[in-house]
This record gives sequence, structure tokens and C-alpha cells, in this order.
Amino acid sequence: EWTMAEFRAQKIAEIREQVGGRKVICGLSGGVDSSVAAVLIHEAIGEQLTCVFVDHGLLRAGEAEQVVSLFRGHYDMPLVHVEAEERFLAGLAGVTDPEKKRKFIGATFIDVFDEEAERIGGADFLAQGTLYPDVIESVSFTGGPSVTIKSHHNVGGLPERMKMDLVEPLRELFKDEVRALGRELGLPEPFVGRHPFPGPGLAIRIPGEVTKEACDTLRKADAIYLDEIRKAGLYDAIWQAFAVLLPVRTVGVMGDHRTYDRVCGLRAVTSTDGMTADVYPFSAEFLSNVATRIVNEVKGINRVVYDYTSKPPGTIEWE
Ligand code: XMP
Repeated sequence: EWTMAEFRAQKIAEIREQVGGRKVICGLSGGVDSSVAAVLIHEAIGEQLTCVFVDHGLLRAGEAEQVVSLFRGHYDMPLVHVEAEERFLAGLAGVTDPEKKRKFIGATFIDVFDEEAERIGGADFLAQGTLYPDVIESVSFTGGPSVTIKSHHNVGGLPERMKMDLVEPLRELFKDEVRALGRELGLPEPFVGRHPFPGPGLAIRIPGEVTKEACDTLRKADAIYLDEIRKAGLYDAIWQAFAVLLPVRTVGVMGDHRTYDRVCGLRAVTSTDGMTADVYPFSAEFLSNVATRIVNEVKGINRVVYDYTSKPPGTIEWE
């Protein structure tokens, strides 16, 4: 039986051994996994680590500010903040296939890292917060190809040309263990307890084409939903909760106007590792309150539906 304190000490020794005096670049997504990986690696090698936070414009409301203030303010870590919204949205224009979205976003992330690594005079390693479930959902145990349900963009190695080795200290861990490690490392509780957020971000919560306008609309609806969940004291009882913006328009009525706007889907599930999930059973009052707020406050949405599908057969994300 091992403790988190022992795991921390062991991983720090392993990272030092692997990296030696060389430089590491770490992609921060704002999620728990990459944050814990960055803090652990920083503890191991200090200034040899540079974090790169790529704002792809597919983040939730306020997320970029939170990440920058935690890492620059609280930890005083070298952090490169790349504003790449235009580049990502330009590349996503016209793309509707979920796997094509993921592949483009994953490849563009790697390009951005590559460029930033060059800008800081080169790095020998790329650090990632890959977890055990990411590893097993993307590749089979035998190393041969298996059925890929979704190509998680942070798994699967790097293109040849990158010439960076991977540092992935969380590869054996499940989410609850990563959270325990985060607490062990002293990360602030609101950060440690955050719901998982996928690397491709809002792009896979907007079925159909991803536009700036759709992202802005979704951010507003999502913020209202999460605000109500926090106010009801339900945030920590839920594994993941988020809004989805559908490409479908339906007819509604507001005052004496007919509306013809988009549908917002709400998702909330309980889970321990993301591999299976149950629907969170909100009360009817809670859901109708959220629906009313979203339709009243978010221009462009006139209907809200709740997703009652468990995983399996559904997945947690809609794409
Ligand atoms: P699904 O939708 O496959 O999601 O049931 C399981 C968990 O994985 C997250 N997820 C992703 N995370 N890159 C990520 O980093 C991805 O491409 C990706 N797709 C899904 C999802 O949010 C859930 O926690």
C-alpha cells in the first residue's frame, strides 16, 4: 500500500532522473490533470519547466484568467500565454465531423507547442497530464490497434518531427487519485475539485460548425447552468456538468414575438473515472429554473433540453 506522499516523492525522483538538466515544456489546459502535472514537475525541476497555456478560444467563461492567475500569481511559474483563438477558429471553419475537429485541434496544439518550444530556445521534453483512462480508451493493452471510440487529442504520441520525449507522470492514475495528489501538492481546493474539461473544449460541445458566435452563446448558457449548480450546492456531487449548443433551430415565442433560435442541451453525470456514467437526477424545479434563465438571458437560444442518457450507451460529451 502506498500513500500520495510516497507517490509524490517517487515521481519527483523519476522526473529528475528522466529529465536531468534538460528543459521541459508543459501544456496547460486549465484542467486538473495538466495543472497537477505542472505543479509536480515544477517541484521536481523548478525553472527547467516552462508552461504553455494555449487559449484556443474554446474555453469556458473566465477560464483563461483563472489559469494565468493561478500559475503566474500563486506559483510564480514561467508561463507562456498563447492567444490562438483566431488560428483555431479559422481552421475549424466549415468542419463538422467530430473526429476532424479533434484531429485539427490536436495537430494545431502540437504546432503551437513546437513554435513556443523554439521561441524559448528549444525543449527536450513535452509534459502532459495524461491519465490512465485516457491511455486505455485510446489504445489497447497489447499495443495493437483497437476500436477507437474517440481520439483523445492528448494521447497517442507525437509526430516524428517534434523530437521531444514525453513526461507523463500521471499515466498510472485515475481522476480521484490525481485530485488526491493535487491536494498533497497544495493546489487550491476549487482547482482540485474542478470538473474535467476536454482538450478540444467547446468545439466538441457544438455539434456542426464551430463559430465565434456559437462559442460565445454556449459560454453564456454554460456559465448560467454552472452558476445554478454551485448555488444549489450540487457541484461536488457531479462528475461533469455542461451545456451543449445544437445546430438545430426550433420555433418559440417570447412576449408577442415568434422566435426561431437554437436548442441548448444540458448534461450532468456522476462517475468515478469517466469510463461509465450515470445521469445526475436534478429536480424538475431546478431544471426548469435553469431553462428559464438560459432562454431569458442568452440571445440565440429559445429551447433547453436535458440529456437523460447514461454511458454506455451514450458518451459523456456529445461528440
Ligand atoms: P466521453 O465523451 O468519451 O468522455 O464519454 C470521457 C471523458 O473524457 C473527456 N474527453 C476528452 N478529454 N480530450 C480530452 O482531453 C478529448 O478529446 C476528450 N474527449 C472526451 C470527457 O470530457 C469526459 O471527462
